[in-house]
Amino acid sequence: MAEITAHVPVMLQEVVEQLQLPPEGRMLDLTLGLGGHAEAILARSGPGLRLLGVDRDPEARAAARARLGADARLTILADTYEDVWDHPAFEAWRALQAPEGLDGVLMDLGCSMLQLRDPKRGFSFREEGPLDMRMDPDQGPTALQWIAEQDATSLAAALFSYGQERASRPIARAILLAFQAGRLHSTRDLAEAVYTVIPREPAKRKGLSDPATRTFQAIRIAVNGELERLGEALRRAVAQLKPGGRIAVISFHSLEDRIVKRSFRHLAGIWDGPGRQPPEPLPRLLRLVHPGGIVPSEAELSANPASRSARLRVAERISETPEAS
Ligand SMILES: C[S@@+](CC[C@H](N)C(=O)[O-])C[C@H]1O[C@@H](n2cnc3c(N)ncnc32)[C@H](O)[C@@H]1O
Repeated sequence: MAEITAHVPVMLQEVVEQLQLPPEGRMLDLTLGLGGHAEAILARSGPGLRLLGVDRDPEARAAARARLGADARLTILADTYEDVWDHPAFEAWRALQAPEGLDGVLMDLGCSMLQLRDPKRGFSFREEGPLDMRMDPDQGPTALQWIAEQDATSLAAALFSYGQERASRPIARAILLAFQAGRLHSTRDLAEAVYTVIPREPAKRKGLSDPATRTFQAIRIAVNGELERLGEALRRAVAQLKPGGRIAVISFHSLEDRIVKRSFRHLAGIWDGPGRQPPEPLPRLLRLVHPGGIVPSEAELSANPASRSARLRVAERISETPEAS
């Protein structure tokens, strides 16, 4: 397992301030990761705080437990933020600890540095490792198994939609060629297939990001189904908030951020079309706290350049039941 200290929590100060948790609050961290945000929340709260941390990755849960120790205020649950809502342990925690609803929900989307830097997890083109990329190593197909199921059209579509890769078609063909020739086993093999279309050195000389970045992002998103049910998870989370409770979501690329923005606006009763009127009345459950989102400070950007693409969106629950607009 990589060093726990390798993960620096992003926008830590902003998250803690924006959540406005009461000292005895009820809080859900849906992407516990290595427990960086959770640690700060526990440190600033009183003995009555109850924090439920959820993560789909067993290594992350173990690392968070090692970091946070046997704090009686903390419960850690193995599940996804899409499915946790119907987990009997979540329902029991909710009934016992938060019968009136939650004061705060945090989602810090994407991968942790623990995942990205551990070669055996297969997330990084910088390290030689198996083509895995699953956040939960016990669930679903590996990246290699997923690629084996694709044809040139579906692979190119995934590279284009999830990686915004303009050379999606030739890269898809190069990946499938390598696979069919028995040359696709590792992260390096996948990166090499991309470099046959977009050579690495010229990009490096121009100071551009590595040409494999977008392909790795796209395949990781597809393998983990990262965008498919994010909107639904946000709606389920908002439904758990008590009036005045806040939800804070950090996203790391525009595809995620667009879903967060649209979901928050929809739940705030703001219609984004098509047409002038929604076909049915929108819920009015949220107030947008920072409609444009918050980005990392200059100081954070220079201390932690990996935070550069982060955007924090915050919204506050304004009513107990959906109201017609
Ligand atoms: C950016 S890290 C969170 C870091 C954490 N806030 C910290 O300070 O240490 C994101 C975490 O979310 C987890 N994750 C990603 N998608 C998930 C999902 N659908 N359900 C539950 N956990 C998920 C990943 O396994 C990873 O540990």
